[in-house]
Amino acid sequence: MAETLQKVTDELRQGETFAPFAEDPNLYTKKFYIESYGCQMNFSDSEIVAAILNEEGFGATRNYEDADLVLLNTCSIREKAEQTVRNRLQAFRKVKEQKPGMLVGVLGCMAERLKAKFLEEEKLVDIVVGPDAYRSLPGLIEEAEGGQKSVNVLLSREETYANISPVRLDSNGVTAFVSIMRGCNNMCTFCVVPFTRGRERSREAVSIINECKDLFDRGFKEVTLLGQNVDSYYFNEGEGLENAVTFAKLLEMVALISPLLRVRFSTSHPKDITDDVLHTMAKYPNICKYIHLPVQAGNTRILQLMNRTYTREWYLNRVQRIREIMPDCGLSTDIITGFCSETDEEHADTLSLMEASRFDMAYMFSYSERPGTLAARRYKDDVPEDVKQRRLEEIIKLQNGHSRESYKNDIGKIFEVLIEGNSKRSDKDWCGRNSQNKMVVFPKGNANLNKGDYAMVKINEATSATLIGEMINN
Ligand code: 5AD
Ligand code: SF4
Repeated sequence: MAETLQKVTDELRQGETFAPFAEDPNLYTKKFYIESYGCQMNFSDSEIVAAILNEEGFGATRNYEDADLVLLNTCSIREKAEQTVRNRLQAFRKVKEQKPGMLVGVLGCMAERLKAKFLEEEKLVDIVVGPDAYRSLPGLIEEAEGGQKSVNVLLSREETYANISPVRLDSNGVTAFVSIMRGCNNMCTFCVVPFTRGRERSREAVSIINECKDLFDRGFKEVTLLGQNVDSYYFNEGEGLENAVTFAKLLEMVALISPLLRVRFSTSHPKDITDDVLHTMAKYPNICKYIHLPVQAGNTRILQLMNRTYTREWYLNRVQRIREIMPDCGLSTDIITGFCSETDEEHADTLSLMEASRFDMAYMFSYSERPGTLAARRYKDDVPEDVKQRRLEEIIKLQNGHSRESYKNDIGKIFEVLIEGNSKRSDKDWCGRNSQNKMVVFPKGNANLNKGDYAMVKINEATSATLIGEMINN
């Protein structure tokens, strides 16, 4: 049971795919198909890639068998994520055998990690492009069309794609991702991201605000500001400190666009999330009261080996500050079990930290050694697989209880819900999220509401992942 649930979360996180559509097929002479894996940043990057391809005369299709160009935006975070991509390539191989002119490109973290090796390992691949090299796609496609395999995996210290207006893919028209920074300087020892996404850099504040304003003008009601480590966002327009934009300032600038535009952000690092950010969140009702704060482990020695640069006590103190400043704030986390040399006692510290923090939701993983990372070079991956799995099951079981309790505690409460669309089960019900990021389902009734409207909903029932309620008069 626990395992199945973990698979579901893992798949949601790692294997969610989408196929975009062509807004006006007559505009374009060729078709591309793109699928994204991994973090929200990859989904957001695919929208930048779509904008670049539209300029080149490629319109999107939902059907890869129709496409002239098939792209996979890949993830390297765990071995399983890479395996999923390789399996997916098999499906494309069959089509390519029938249609040799079809080009296959690999984007994202796996492209960056494997570089030209990808071309040797997966013969059907024509193009390999790293996360900072998407502007070179037109040239690479041209080379590939001429029969030459092409690779660009140069990482950049400046690229933020600030002036590219993303083409929203398979969008609900209500919520959108806005990338505010790229890369990561943290060097957590287990993590491949600093190697695949390069050095941290922040995007120009004005271009972020303009993108958010434009989304709001087009009817969007929620933006999620994205970065590997959003709290270290920093952009200085001019010389003096008075021009400096910190993450707290940026949040405020976005919140001020309109009280009807909700603001979310992800991901925060416990070492960087300041009281300033928490106070800004508390000050603006349209900044959602939800923080994803990955802890990774509950034991200080393991945290040190992971190079997380905080202790168990520091983390618990941050959680306490969040609860003091925003008692109603939703909190989720990421946890890794079975990191190098983790003992049963140290694992028990993770369980007790979970008890103390009471997360509403968690993404839980067993440690997967990634080639080239500091941990792979320095430490032995010595916790046996069955022990990793047993520990994972224990934390999943504990978290399921906490999630159930957290959702049950909401029964009787009234939330403002932003309607994102029909519920999956029935077109007679709306679904949307509350500020705390919990999914809420409720009957449409006779009220004349639409996608993108706000509704006040009283919660009557709860499962461990959904709140069920009814609209009350606004
Ligand atoms: N093994 C398992 N989980 C990992 N994560 C990152 N690297 C690894 C790894 N090597 C998890 C962390 C991170 C989330 C995005 O993925 O929990 O926060
Ligand atoms: Fe990886 Fe750590 Fe950076 Fe997150 S903060 S992307 S876990 S190195």
